[in-house]
Amino acid sequence: MNNNSKTNSLSGFYKLNRADRLERLRHFCGLDDSSIKLLSSDSPLKFELSNLFVENAIGQFSLPLGLVTNVHLNSKEYCVPFAVEESSVIAASSNAAKWIKASGGFSGMVAGNEMIGQIQLLDLVAGSMEDVRQIILNEKTRLLKIANDVHPRLTQRGGGARDIVFRPFPNAATPFAVVHVHIDTCEAMGANLVNTVCEELAPHIQALTGARIGLKILSNYATERLFKVQCKVDPKLLAERGQDNGAEVAAKICEATDFANSDPHRAATHNKGVMNGVDPVLIATGNDWRANEAGIHAYACKQGSYGSLSAWQMDEDGWLIGEIEAPMQIGTVGGITRLHPMAQKSLDILGRPSSNELAQIALSTGLASNLAALRALVTTGIQAGHMKLHAKNLALSAGALGHHIEEVASEMVRNNKVSQTEAERLVKTLNCSCLSAENGEDLPSTETPKPHSAQKNIANDGDDGHIQSQ
Ligand code: MEV
Repeated sequence: MNNNSKTNSLSGFYKLNRADRLERLRHFCGLDDSSIKLLSSDSPLKFELSNLFVENAIGQFSLPLGLVTNVHLNSKEYCVPFAVEESSVIAASSNAAKWIKASGGFSGMVAGNEMIGQIQLLDLVAGSMEDVRQIILNEKTRLLKIANDVHPRLTQRGGGARDIVFRPFPNAATPFAVVHVHIDTCEAMGANLVNTVCEELAPHIQALTGARIGLKILSNYATERLFKVQCKVDPKLLAERGQDNGAEVAAKICEATDFANSDPHRAATHNKGVMNGVDPVLIATGNDWRANEAGIHAYACKQGSYGSLSAWQMDEDGWLIGEIEAPMQIGTVGGITRLHPMAQKSLDILGRPSSNELAQIALSTGLASNLAALRALVTTGIQAGHMKLHAKNLALSAGALGHHIEEVASEMVRNNKVSQTEAERLVKTLNCSCLSAENGEDLPSTETPKPHSAQKNIANDGDDGHIQSQ
């Protein structure tokens, strides 16, 4: 699967058409014919499956699947599947991942891999909290055994219930307590598994304490399933074609982190830039991104107010040092991950990572996406790069077809007038509407158009062609 010898084999990927990209991917990841066939399909998810996944199914809602290249994590090279609709996220993340790779790559670690289940105990009088704590702690071994008997195969695989923790809330309007059960769910995200354990343990805890049992459910604030990813960046790589001073850019990125840590209004946007690189990996691999969003944003409040998920600072040599720590609730088995054919292909493309590895991959691309956004924000601003790609969407929605999409988009960028009205005006001028379904050209081209002079201004950044800013 993926390794260092394949380091450069995806260079120039953006320049290829779809068939050539897939062929390149086949060699990079060792995909077989059936995988390539599935990835080439425009409707890989059968309705029968959609109908199994959700109620009242009527069809599918598709997202583009692209690849973020250059992700070098713990000495391994990955190309990372991104399911995302937003223009420029993939290009920007790949570009930042390239600077990071050239500076030594990402290093990641697991700081804890246990999910938390919560069992709420009510109708306790505040004075008896300590007694209840003692009862629970005295019975810890028995309670852990009960929990582990629920899923014997989990313990056989090396996972299982690890700890029981008592947490009193004596000052709540109605005082209550919570029993936490910490469970290593191995390769599973573990929601069902943890919920079953909570429901099994509840009557035993009720019998021990006489409490009324309230909620029995996992906590998505997965503070015992924490991952950390770090990187460093040579400031020279942050200078845009010699226009900026890399050291200044690095210093401004640190200032921007300070802004996010001081102001939740900025922190939310800053963290949106991080999640631009995390959610697409979760979606592509069939993981529950709502659970992760909930847990990660709760973690951004761990200091008492909402702050930045990432930390950027400079070391004594003037290199930019980035770090992100976050709870990740990720599975590589079970649920949609196992059943959705594209989730399976995404895992193949990633070289079948463990859930811990996948968590670190997603945080790496989150950090890369954040770096790309911050660099754009402290230099040219975000709109320059973003609008160049957004222009294509506007052209398409204005009715441009085939190669006219490029023409309309390039014209808008050239004139610095990127808007829906301008797109519609140009479509009329270019008479794009003559390309209607009647001559069979009712879909945008799937080929990557060859850069012409106007388009060169849009996206070209030398070797890998990733746009410089988002
Ligand atoms: C846009 O999708 C994300 C950004 O707003 C993130 C940021 O402001 O840091 C560019």
